[in-house]
Amino acid sequence: MTVTVGQVGPDVVLPLRSAVLRDGGPAGLPGDDDPATVHLAARTADGRVAGVVRLSPAPCPWRPDARAPWQLRAMATDPAVRGTGAGRALVEAGLALVGERGGDLVWCNARTGAAGFYERLGFAVVTGGFDVPPVGPHVGMLTAVPGATRSS
Ligand SMILES: CC(C)(COP(=O)(O)OP(=O)(O)OC[C@H]1O[C@@H](n2cnc3c(N)ncnc32)[C@H](O)[C@@H]1OP(=O)(O)O)[C@@H](O)C(=O)NCCC(=O)NCCS
Repeated sequence: MTVTVGQVGPDVVLPLRSAVLRDGGPAGLPGDDDPATVHLAARTADGRVAGVVRLSPAPCPWRPDARAPWQLRAMATDPAVRGTGAGRALVEAGLALVGERGGDLVWCNARTGAAGFYERLGFAVVTGGFDVPPVGPHVGMLTAVPGATRSS
């Protein structure tokens, strides 16, 4: 499946975020409207939103001395396209964008069922398991950002 990844407003990502991550419930997150927050959508050729992710500057709980850490949140792809590269396209575009903005590390609280996905994208597990109610078990993961272009 070929998708095109682009930066969008929060209104574009919320429906899929809600459907995949919140069982159709409210899916807004603190900071969604912050100017520094980046929302990415992966669209299919017909313009349908097939995947979403959010990245924003945020201190890393496990690397307090990180120079310019960003958090990845609310990663979701439409079940109809899973396994065809939409998730990879989103994360790779997100890492490139963070690098362009001077970020040097991206971290996330990963659902344990998705940890293998993030590992395929170069993230490493850096914590033991922990619970995030009501979602369930997570692990902390992070990756260095290749090619950060400026200091911040
Ligand atoms: C996790 C998720 C985003 C993956 O999206 P996707 O569109 O299927 O990802 P891709 O097709 O780009 O997969 C990229 C690679 O990761 C692998 N992969 C995908 N999901 C995986 C998983 N859950 N565990 C292990 N590997 C996985 C793919 O096989 C592929 O491997 P490859 O590099 O050998 O081709 C998607 O399954 C999803 O939305 N899940 C429900 C919500 C969720 O758990 N989000 C994460 C919250 S932390």
